[in-house]
Amino acid sequence: MVRRALLIAATAAFLTGAAWTAEAAGATPAASAPRAPVGAASRPAPALVLPDGANPHPVHLVLPPRKPLSAVARLGRELFFDRRLSGSGRVSCASCHSPEHAYGPPNALPVQIGGSRMNRFGVRAVPSLEYLYRQQNFSIGPDNEENETITLQQLVQLGKQATRVRKTAHDTAATAANLVPQGGLFWDGRVNTLQQQADGPLFNPLEMDAGSVATVAAKLRSGGYAREFQQLFGPGMMDNAQFLVSEALFALARFQIEDPSFHPFTSKYDAWLQGKARFTPTQARGYVAFNDPRKGDCAACHLDRPGADGQPPLFSDTQYEALGVPRNPAIPANRDPHYHDMGLCGPYRTDLARQTQYCGMFLTPTLRNAATRHVFFHNGVYHSLARVLDFYDFRDTRPARIYPVVDGKVDKYDDLPARYRANVDHTDPPFDRKAGQRPAMSARDMRDIIAFLKTLNDGWRGG
Ligand code: HEC
Ligand code: HEC
Repeated sequence: MVRRALLIAATAAFLTGAAWTAEAAGATPAASAPRAPVGAASRPAPALVLPDGANPHPVHLVLPPRKPLSAVARLGRELFFDRRLSGSGRVSCASCHSPEHAYGPPNALPVQIGGSRMNRFGVRAVPSLEYLYRQQNFSIGPDNEENETITLQQLVQLGKQATRVRKTAHDTAATAANLVPQGGLFWDGRVNTLQQQADGPLFNPLEMDAGSVATVAAKLRSGGYAREFQQLFGPGMMDNAQFLVSEALFALARFQIEDPSFHPFTSKYDAWLQGKARFTPTQARGYVAFNDPRKGDCAACHLDRPGADGQPPLFSDTQYEALGVPRNPAIPANRDPHYHDMGLCGPYRTDLARQTQYCGMFLTPTLRNAATRHVFFHNGVYHSLARVLDFYDFRDTRPARIYPVVDGKVDKYDDLPARYRANVDHTDPPFDRKAGQRPAMSARDMRDIIAFLKTLNDGWRGG
């Protein structure tokens, strides 16, 4: 979680006409300067939202270039929608990553059905494929560039030595020194690049179950592709099955990187950031609560500010956290009480299996277009944003509302083996409370935050 000190000085000022105010440490370069604690407002903080709902600090966003797709990316687009590539002949990438649903699942099933006979259930919720274009390689450390020269195992050793500092809003220097898992694709970061990634679903027996490389290559040679492959790579390569398949995967990756539909940045929030839209009072309150460390504190992990270079925010810090979301009995794999999806430490990635301090950690997903989804979290346990907000608010303060009660005792963090439950994040608000204490957010705060989240849906047409 990346921390920016936020000093929320005004809470309900919007309706009374005063500006919403907050101070973002991220906006000031001196990260190591001592900061005033929350609530100790010694000087007036700049406004987060103006009384009329406008952005007090409009920015010029640096958006990815929009240009015609390369020939390889066009080939990738065809492959993305081609059901023939699957073992069953019935599933394409788009079946699970639907373009009409922000490249997320087209339905409310927690996991999708695949396999060559369409009778195998997936094990995790389908993530959106949008806004992955800036995702860095998986690493453990404060900074990706520095990590490039050392191996993952060395990083793990470093990560163990570093004390897991309390991630507070006011000690940004200590937080920066904290070594945390970050980057990568999939809920557990087990692959780095979009190209490397595509052979996962293509050959995964639970997903497209395409069979062997030879089978896929034969399909690529037949049908409409043969000519495109020949034109792109030369006729001499057509016999090389491995080459054909890896070029196909490369093409799929190029499609996802080049096609603007994967990173449209056409939400109301993007317009607002650029001074071209105003929040309604509800959205404005939601935005402030989303940022307020005493309320949602969502922006601590789901970053919502543009970078200093004008890069639009992706609503993820691309780090991993153990939130302890409840077990989802609707996932067939969960019928086995000994089965546990523990994210970074397995079972689907194996290189960190013994780093038990990471058990239960999953990648922080983007919240762009989250309000269009029908399943939430890595195990798809919730079906509405209202339930997600309840989870954040009541996980610690009213745990019986979130977890099953077994023999009169709340089985908190029931989706993790008991020995790893200590990994669950207890320091970051709104998770810094105890049972019976007042929840961080009121019912209205939560409704307001949901209204704000809806401003992150792409395709905004004004209003
Ligand atoms: C049967 C459903 C299904 C199909 C078909 C499918 N995927 Fe996925 N995809 C998933 C699931 C589930 C995940 C998350 C898996 C995990 O985290 O372990 C995923 C994850 C991904 C990710 C990582 C996203 C992220 O946020 O890190 C990418 C990229 C991706 N798929 C691309 C593809 C491509 C390309 C195809 C076609 C070759 C494809 N998928 C076909 C279900 C599917
Ligand atoms: C400490 C970091 C952290 C904070 C604070 C945080 N989140 Fe998250 N969020 C995560 C992680 C990690 C996940 C994925 C967890 C999982 O699936 O196990 C997640 C998942 C989500 C999802 C599901 C998205 C999807 O595609 O399934 C939503 C919605 C969400 N968060 C909204 C919020 C809101 C609203 C707040 C503030 C009330 C908030 N988050 C605060 C880290 C955080």
